[in-house]
Amino acid sequence: MMQDSSPGTRAEFARLDEQDPLRGHRERFALPEGVIYLDGNSLGALPRGVSARLTQAIEREWGVGLIRSWNDAGWYPAPQRVGGRIASLIGARPDEVIVADSTSINLFKVLVAALRLRPGRRRILGERGNFPTDVYVASGVAELMDAEFVAVEPDDVLAAIDEQTAVVSLTHVNYKTGRRYDMAEVTRRAQAKGALVVWDLCHTAGAMPCGLNDAHVDFAVGCSYKYLNGGPGAPAFVFVAQKHHGQVRQPITGWHGHARPFDFVHDYEPGQGLDHMLVGTAPQLGLIVLEEALKAFDGVDMNQVRHKSERLTGLFIELVDRTLGDFGFGLATPRDAAQRGSQVSLTHPEGYAIMQALIARGVIGDFRAPDILRFGFTPLYVSYLDVWDAVAALRDIMSSGAWQAPEYRQRKAVT
Ligand SMILES: Cc1ncc(COP(=O)(O)O)c(C=O)c1O
Repeated sequence: MMQDSSPGTRAEFARLDEQDPLRGHRERFALPEGVIYLDGNSLGALPRGVSARLTQAIEREWGVGLIRSWNDAGWYPAPQRVGGRIASLIGARPDEVIVADSTSINLFKVLVAALRLRPGRRRILGERGNFPTDVYVASGVAELMDAEFVAVEPDDVLAAIDEQTAVVSLTHVNYKTGRRYDMAEVTRRAQAKGALVVWDLCHTAGAMPCGLNDAHVDFAVGCSYKYLNGGPGAPAFVFVAQKHHGQVRQPITGWHGHARPFDFVHDYEPGQGLDHMLVGTAPQLGLIVLEEALKAFDGVDMNQVRHKSERLTGLFIELVDRTLGDFGFGLATPRDAAQRGSQVSLTHPEGYAIMQALIARGVIGDFRAPDILRFGFTPLYVSYLDVWDAVAALRDIMSSGAWQAPEYRQRKAVT
């Protein structure tokens, strides 16, 4: 139910925007007119400076500088430099984060590395309902390393950690439900049993403060195309706590991870710090876009981001409760703000068609099979008014039956 003190009218939501310390940050993004973008948890919006920066990189650095730009335009050290910027958003030291490959590949690297650090233990502990790549990669690593992958229900994770557990591998905020683990507590309990922890931060980085070092986390991975706004297919990042530097051995020993790639020697020698986490040639255009995109976070207080995120998601849930009660929606996301990330997931048996109808109205969220409508709230560019207008559009689609149009039933490849 809506609390008495909660804003309810459109004018009251507009007033919240006026008081919002982050309201000016929306200008940092080139969002199209008439769109309410609630899918930044899938693909972040385009930060304004990116197009010009990419044009410059293509025309001047690539077009004119050619191969010289690897030295002259700062391309070669970009994985470390951009990693350092991401580190500041996730509570890590600059030398503990490097940008490389995809989340899936980085997960493979750190899971193998973790098993190698715990030679007497052969179990990777994960959760049911995790994002498929986390499950598939953990299974693949287990097979390769003669280990086992055990997935338990999220509520059973703590009880399942034991002296056989080499590594606990979890996603901080679940992609479907938006449920969030207590990172510090799980990490503490795992390490008390001698296990290492790997956190997937795909739905965390850029959405909230994340104190990796405060929580003594061992490893983390994450993508940069969601809340970090790095663009479609942007390169991912990997975090390794400093205490493990020098001991970690990752399995994909490519030439860019070598201590001296341009010596072209026969024998592999791992690079210093996290340099050995690199594999092959870094995707420079993706790195350039990501570095520019991260400027949207300049001067941003992540505590304010989290505060607004809790408010946006909480008000969305309250409005849904109050105005959509008759239409058969369920709530998959925890009501307790401390237990959720920056998204709200509704369930509905006709979820796919309803989401298509919403998108046709300019309210963009997404759908996750079998029945989840996902709404991501990115506090840098989503307003309180967006929340009110999105729920109003949803109510209209339901009460008019607009979602029943046949064109909304045809499944597209990406949902
Ligand atoms: C939790 C989680 N892990 C991993 C991924 C994707 O990994 P990759 O960047 O390798 O495609 C996603 C994508 O949505 C995700 O939600």
